[in-house]
Amino acid sequence: MDVSKLMFREGLMNDERILVTGGGTGLGREMAEGFLKLGATVYICGRRQNKLDETATELMEQHGGKVVAHACDIRDADAIHEMVDKIWVDGGALTGVVNNAAGNFISRTEDLSVNGFNAIADIVMRGTFYVTLDVGKRLIAEGKSASFLSILTTWVWSGSAFVVPSAMSKTAIHAMTQSLATEWGRYGLRFNAIAPGLFPTKGMSARLSPGGQGGNSKNDTNPMGRAGEMHELANLAVFLMGQGAEYVNGQTIAIDGAGYQANGGTFYPVLHALGDAEWEQMRAMIKGTNAKDKADRATE
Ligand code: HXC
Repeated sequence: MDVSKLMFREGLMNDERILVTGGGTGLGREMAEGFLKLGATVYICGRRQNKLDETATELMEQHGGKVVAHACDIRDADAIHEMVDKIWVDGGALTGVVNNAAGNFISRTEDLSVNGFNAIADIVMRGTFYVTLDVGKRLIAEGKSASFLSILTTWVWSGSAFVVPSAMSKTAIHAMTQSLATEWGRYGLRFNAIAPGLFPTKGMSARLSPGGQGGNSKNDTNPMGRAGEMHELANLAVFLMGQGAEYVNGQTIAIDGAGYQANGGTFYPVLHALGDAEWEQMRAMIKGTNAKDKADRATE
């Protein structure tokens, strides 16, 4: 990310202690970098310790400050509890959580197994809730305020063909955002979400646009004629996580160049025309990526 394009003053986040799930790669890493650059202590978690360590080292080399990496699969509530214990021991209460970790792949729904559904729902819906619950309970007990931010998609308003487990799970977190914004507002805990349009990352492209032929591979119908730039996402995340915007609560804000209004922001237009052979080919590519990632995790 080009940090010179951050729109906030240095030191804005000096008092912030923020956990970014899925912070080792992709959008999570970019937001973590923005928070760090502005002074926050940042905790990142994900499934691959070596990737997290690499990210933490690189970010601290570039910007100074403190990034702490914890290997933690958010599908495991006990592992979350242990990690959050360590964070509290390291410096006390978090001031913010970014629920960014996610899993997704394009598939015709009739080709999904129960395991395939759960692989996504366990991360996106259940895992996000487990993190929120564990951190939320501690903050309530200690009377500390904090900001929770979840990374969603515009499918929470429209649904989306060919990514049904993701659309369902993200919609559940949209409901959590609105529900807890009201229920836990009295504790000084606020809940917002960002619905990013196309911000290309490696994990996303491999599973949503395998071989460049899948869902979100084209942005020529976006009114801005381009994909999002990472500093634009980071600026919105900083605004929602930092001091000064406490009255923003219960909102899901799209950052997609008005793609949602222009073209609906879903995969339907490209994917509905594909036949069996094309789906078979994409499934093989996605499973190859999944297997490679799994092998990377196993070698640690
Ligand atoms: C059908 C598939 C499949 C495919 C996996 N499965 N890929 N089914 N089509 N293409 C099935 C498997 O066959 C298996 O079911 C089950 O899913 C679990 O597969 P695993 O490989 O064992 O899963 P796991 O290792 O737990 O990996 C989870 C994952 C993977 C979600 C499948 O993609 C992952 O780790 N993703 C993390 C990174 C990521 O997805 N990033 C992109 C996020 S983009 P069976 O029945 O065979 O046992 C995003 C928002 C996009 O979230 C918004 C854009 C606008």
